[in-house]
Amino acid sequence: MNLANVLKIDSHNIDINKIKKAAILLNSGGLVAFPTETVYGIGANAYDKAAIDNIFAVKNRPYSDPVIVHIYNADHLTDVALDIPDLAYKLVEKYWPGPLTVILKRNDNIPGNVSCGLDTVAVRVPNHSIALALLKYANVPIAAPSANLFSRPSSTSAEHVVADFGRKIDLIIDGGISSIGIESTVIDLTKKKPKVLRPGGVEFELLKELVPDIQLGSSYLAKSVVSSSPGLMLKHYSPLAKLLLFTGDNRDKVLAHMLKLSSNFTSEGKKVGILTVEDDKNIFADHGLHIYSLGDGSKIEHIARSLYDGIRTLDNFNLDVILVRSISNHGLGLAIFDRLYRAAEGTIIKL
Ligand code: TXA
Ligand code: MG
Repeated sequence: MNLANVLKIDSHNIDINKIKKAAILLNSGGLVAFPTETVYGIGANAYDKAAIDNIFAVKNRPYSDPVIVHIYNADHLTDVALDIPDLAYKLVEKYWPGPLTVILKRNDNIPGNVSCGLDTVAVRVPNHSIALALLKYANVPIAAPSANLFSRPSSTSAEHVVADFGRKIDLIIDGGISSIGIESTVIDLTKKKPKVLRPGGVEFELLKELVPDIQLGSSYLAKSVVSSSPGLMLKHYSPLAKLLLFTGDNRDKVLAHMLKLSSNFTSEGKKVGILTVEDDKNIFADHGLHIYSLGDGSKIEHIARSLYDGIRTLDNFNLDVILVRSISNHGLGLAIFDRLYRAAEGTIIKL
């Protein structure tokens, strides 16, 4: 990557002059892509209405999908939110910095376009040295959606951001690969009962221990239609190829079916990709298929970390179809399943 707008920063040994350069850009209305522990974000000064408009424009993001505001620490919650319930403090004390986003009443300091006109705001403190340094030196909250074109897979490396945006963003900080690889868990705290609107890096089961009456958005229980979270329309995280998602209790049966279907596709002259865990990989070998291994199926963190790279890498082969067997529905597996389900545009092939 040799683009003039890419700036490499070592997350273990941060060059503050580089952070200052990025902070100046943010403070003057620019867009800066930066790494977080979940995925890369495209940041703008959250107080700057025009810069927020630019985020929507550069992503082709519809004005119905509000943006998360990142802050340096929980002391800054009152800069962006109002009427903060005790439960919010309880949650963020445990999970910040980290992959948890809370929806609260919006403080008027934050322009309405951040939240697409809603009177709420999504807030999180990222757990990444570069993101935190940027927040500290910019000294403003940073509004940042995931750094991908709308409805495309999120970015877990600077290469992914460059592939989607090139020179369209003022600065892209290359801070290596995002360690979690899947977006934050989003919890709405503005309703009677706390509700998970998007499963993510903090496992639902753990939240339930801390907050027993927390609910999981209905779309995650019955795999049916779109949920109430504005950004959760079904065609999301999608590859350009059609993605087929398979489930079933009998692993061998599912794999045999996937292999047969793949052979049918290739005999029709179609280009086929397989997104798979390492343990299943050999079954698909020697059939002229494009295979991406997500890693050891029992190491769910590893799968999460490689998921978006897997989808993007296969997409780069200009395939017609990508087949994937559902991996797990528990812990981080719920978020992974959700992203695959959306990438498959809401269709599951159950065997
Ligand atoms: O891990 C993450 O959350 C990453 C990194 C960059 O922090 N960001 C991210 O942002 O995933 P984005 O814009 O791709 O997803 C934001 C999600 C969407 O599902 C959106 O609908 C929801 O948060 N959201 C944001 N503001 C909201 C609000 N006021 N009410 C309800 N949902 C909201
Ligand atoms: Mg996103």
